[in-house]
Amino acid sequence: MSGTAPVLEVEGLTKSYGGVHAVRGVSFSVAQGEIVALIGPNGAGKTTCFNMLNGQIPPDAGRVRLLGEDTTDCPPRVVWRRGVGRTFQITATFSTMTVRENIQVALASHASRTFNLWRSMPDFARRDADALLGLVDMAGYADRPCGELAYGDLKRLELAVALANNPRLLLMDEPTAGMAPKERVALMRLVARIARERTIGVLFTEHDMDVVFEHAERVLVLNRGQLIAEGTPASVRRDPQVRAIYLGEGLLYEGGQHEGANG
Ligand SMILES: Nc1ncnc2c1ncn2[C@@H]1O[C@H](COP(=O)(O)OP(=O)(O)OP(=O)(O)O)[C@@H](O)[C@H]1O
Ligand SMILES: [Mg+2]
Repeated sequence: MSGTAPVLEVEGLTKSYGGVHAVRGVSFSVAQGEIVALIGPNGAGKTTCFNMLNGQIPPDAGRVRLLGEDTTDCPPRVVWRRGVGRTFQITATFSTMTVRENIQVALASHASRTFNLWRSMPDFARRDADALLGLVDMAGYADRPCGELAYGDLKRLELAVALANNPRLLLMDEPTAGMAPKERVALMRLVARIARERTIGVLFTEHDMDVVFEHAERVLVLNRGQLIAEGTPASVRRDPQVRAIYLGEGLLYEGGQHEGANG
């Protein structure tokens, strides 16, 4: 089943909070190794979608399938075990631990081993951790405490941690938030390179349209909880409904002239 099945299939995903329809009947899929952007204005329902894909919140209705297997009501731990990486955990880890140790923790939990992390970290975790650090161009940072890292480096570390799970799908909710424009482009180039090398599907949200249009093979547009457009970056950019939403916010640009995004 996992051979040719899309890495992610979503059908009729729905979630309300009181009277607010955060997500309404959203359906889409992500092919194996495909890089897809989920865009939309503030409050469109992007994060709510991610939280349902990841098992963090249960949908009111709809199904989620990973590589053909239903994960709709699975908790985050199970979804993660099925090969879904998510980038956001680093800020929650120990800033006194070194860069390598952070990766080792992630590798250890992937391998379901329990041991004293500070005294008896096995060699396999050290080798694999260093390989992952090399992958995100951070080989020279292994022994530094995380608390000393610049924000952009922390983001790359976060990516390495997500990769420790050997994911088939990466869910990235605004992975470049808070970064300078140059850093954003560099981080997403790194993500795209690794995703292609390892056939990892990527679903990401991003407010910077430069980043979206450079990297997404396909773009999904959410507005007020509903999917209003879907297609190649070029076709989405031409879509009148999308233009109406984005032009008002100054987010869309034409002919390479960037109008700026929030952040
Ligand atoms: N826990 C919650 N309780 C009540 N309302 C919520 C909750 N989470 C989200 N919402 C509402 O659901 C809608 C969608 O929010 P969501 O955070 O998913 O949007 P978003 O597209 O991620 O926005 P942003 O671009 O600002 O991150 C918003 O109207 C939001 O206020
Ligand atoms: Mg959000």
